[in-house]
Amino acid sequence: MIKTIEYNNGIVRLIDQTRLPGEEVYVECRDYQSVGDAIKYMLIRGAPAIGVAAAMGVAIGANNIKADGFDEFYSKIESICDYMIERRPTAVNLSWAVKRMKNSVKENREKDVSSLKKILEDEAIKIWQEDLSINKIMAENGEELIKDGNTILTHCNAGALATAGDYGTALGVIKAAFVKGKNIRVFADETRPFLQGARLTAWEMKKEGIPVRLITDNMAGYFMKKGEIDLVIVGADRIAANGDVANKIGTYTVAVLAREHNIPFYVVAPISTLDMSLDSGDKIPIEERDKREITDINGRKIAPDGIDVLNPVFDVTPNRFVNAIINEKGIIRPPYHENLKKILK
Ligand code: MRU
Repeated sequence: MIKTIEYNNGIVRLIDQTRLPGEEVYVECRDYQSVGDAIKYMLIRGAPAIGVAAAMGVAIGANNIKADGFDEFYSKIESICDYMIERRPTAVNLSWAVKRMKNSVKENREKDVSSLKKILEDEAIKIWQEDLSINKIMAENGEELIKDGNTILTHCNAGALATAGDYGTALGVIKAAFVKGKNIRVFADETRPFLQGARLTAWEMKKEGIPVRLITDNMAGYFMKKGEIDLVIVGADRIAANGDVANKIGTYTVAVLAREHNIPFYVVAPISTLDMSLDSGDKIPIEERDKREITDINGRKIAPDGIDVLNPVFDVTPNRFVNAIINEKGIIRPPYHENLKKILK
């Protein structure tokens, strides 16, 4: 089992994903700021994983608070929560998890400060455990979409590394089909610019013994046209109420290509990735990251000095390109604005 993140005795231990696949190094965070840095600089990344990390960060931050009563404690918790939410804007799982942490304090305002610290610790561990079990359920729910002999294209990394650990979301469905004995193959897009596909998905698939071939992002259309891809499965960072899906930059291109070639395009994401407050994906905030992700590879410049660069790291796939969304409630089909609401009832 791939252990992405763990919490023990006030310490968050996570695998440093920036050093994979070369080195398997674990980092220990002992204060909330180092958890925040791990999120911002992508030592941990992937929507559910940063939600879990942020919750654990709040728990560590709480442990170090000195406060006389509820009001003082809660206002310090609020500023730690605000700090966490600002680390990365697109994946809604982060603010979802932080909100849960805040609520767990608000609901227990009559308790003393040391009990509140324990409540926060328990809530963070609960969020982690729930993510592990939800991923298994989603994997079982989606596995029927993969037939024996299928080749699946995936983009970015939506595996154990992008979640609390173990199964993951999109890769969880693939792992479940593999465990059932289906003869499957994976095509992993390298996923420029941060190369989550080349560095992380390829590593995860190899570790699981699942046949995987790495391609550059611009090869997807070539292989689809040749009839070598049967379905596409990706994760998500935020899904609007109408089923529009924000995911790693390049996902939209893959979805459009898949439609052109009559290849089903599936999204696997827990309910914590749903943002029912947004009626359309156009309102999802898109993170822009450092231009060096584009101009440099491994610290070596590949573009002229001073070049203007754009680096939006997510895009939004309109719901009409999404054949189904798989979550812990099952396989959700269009019309999403009705069917997503139904499953939340
Ligand atoms: O920038 P990242 O690596 O955090 O982006 C991650 C993705 O886009 C994943 O595909 C998404 O979070 C799904 S994770 C289960």
